[in-house]
Amino acid sequence: MMSKNNFMNTYGRFDVVFEKGNGCRLYDVNGNEYIDFISGVAVNCLGHSNPAIVKTISEQSATLMHISNYFWSTKLLELAEKLCSYSDHQQLFFCNSGTEAVEVGLKLARKYGRLKGGENKNEIIYMNNSFHGRTMGALSVTGQGKYQDNFRPLIGNVKEVKFNDIESIKSVISENTCGVIIEPIQGEGGINPVDKKYIKELRALCDKYDVLLIFDEVQCGMGRTGKLFAYQQFDVIPDVICMAKGIAGGFPMGAALATEKAGSAFVPGDHGNTFGGNPLACSVSLTVLHEIMEGGVLENVNEKSKYFINSLNKLKEKHSVIKEVKGMGLLLGISVSINPKDIIDKCFENKLLLTRAGSDVIRLLPPLNVEEEYIDKAVEIIDKVITEIEAGL
Ligand SMILES: Cc1ncc(COP(=O)(O)O)c(C=O)c1O
Repeated sequence: MMSKNNFMNTYGRFDVVFEKGNGCRLYDVNGNEYIDFISGVAVNCLGHSNPAIVKTISEQSATLMHISNYFWSTKLLELAEKLCSYSDHQQLFFCNSGTEAVEVGLKLARKYGRLKGGENKNEIIYMNNSFHGRTMGALSVTGQGKYQDNFRPLIGNVKEVKFNDIESIKSVISENTCGVIIEPIQGEGGINPVDKKYIKELRALCDKYDVLLIFDEVQCGMGRTGKLFAYQQFDVIPDVICMAKGIAGGFPMGAALATEKAGSAFVPGDHGNTFGGNPLACSVSLTVLHEIMEGGVLENVNEKSKYFINSLNKLKEKHSVIKEVKGMGLLLGISVSINPKDIIDKCFENKLLLTRAGSDVIRLLPPLNVEEEYIDKAVEIIDKVITEIEAGL
């Protein structure tokens, strides 16, 4: 029998073993029901056991699952066509996770820089407080010492600047810069949206120095902000978009979308992988896209976002420990003046699953098709928990 000690000690897990899920509910081995407002960290965008996804997996796995990237498949071509038609981008690359999508962005920037400015044009700029993943490239541009420090030396010629501070990047960017990577809404770092004026100035700065602007939409993309792509909220077109998490609603998948200018830097042999874009992953992603764009899910995000923010703001009026309600769409956070872990742990005891972002934020990530009833239940539990905590302060 496998014990919990057989695992590398990488995660601080809740003490619960889940067996099944349905919509935004999860059930543990003892039959307890939980409201899941983590959604696999923005992955299960259509909830658990979504019937359309279940049907697609069942049918596609019986038809064609994997063939290798030596060939095309109908689902691969269909998905590429759809993603490009919904974006301002013409080229893409499929992979299996967020960190891999970020690696595509970093490698594209390096290759683009080399083609445009020779081997010295290789510097990549990233933001403080960012999160881009755990592989060495993505980690090297993740602006948080707690993730980086034990793994130095990281990749060379990467420089950190201050998020939302144009003077900070102006003092660093140069002809030798090839890429700038940024989350339009910092997720793990604390649900911090980029400033609209800043991002426009950043775009102009990247154009001035012929630098690829890479948006990491791994967490904030796929409808989470209320538009399919987060960049569509900010009136700026990035050269590369990194995607994953919700892209296939729980089936592992990642992608990098690029403008032709950026994407055409790659030639055969520059990048590749075994599983990326296989027919099964692509068909699940097609189903998710269909639900988001044509099945009313995007409308639901915008409607429920307003409702949720309104309810959370009422909680803020009632509880002095709540400092701010932040975020966009259904990527929301509440910053608190006490340790957010205390609230999260008590919510867990009350069968509501929440996670943390940054040092002081409770992150709320319901599925994009969440119903009002579950928002009400979640708010009720948070209210009860904070009331109890405040009584003991
Ligand atoms: C913004 C962002 N980028 C990249 C990643 C890494 O994605 P993955 O864990 O799929 O490698 C994450 C994961 O949380 C993320 O939030």
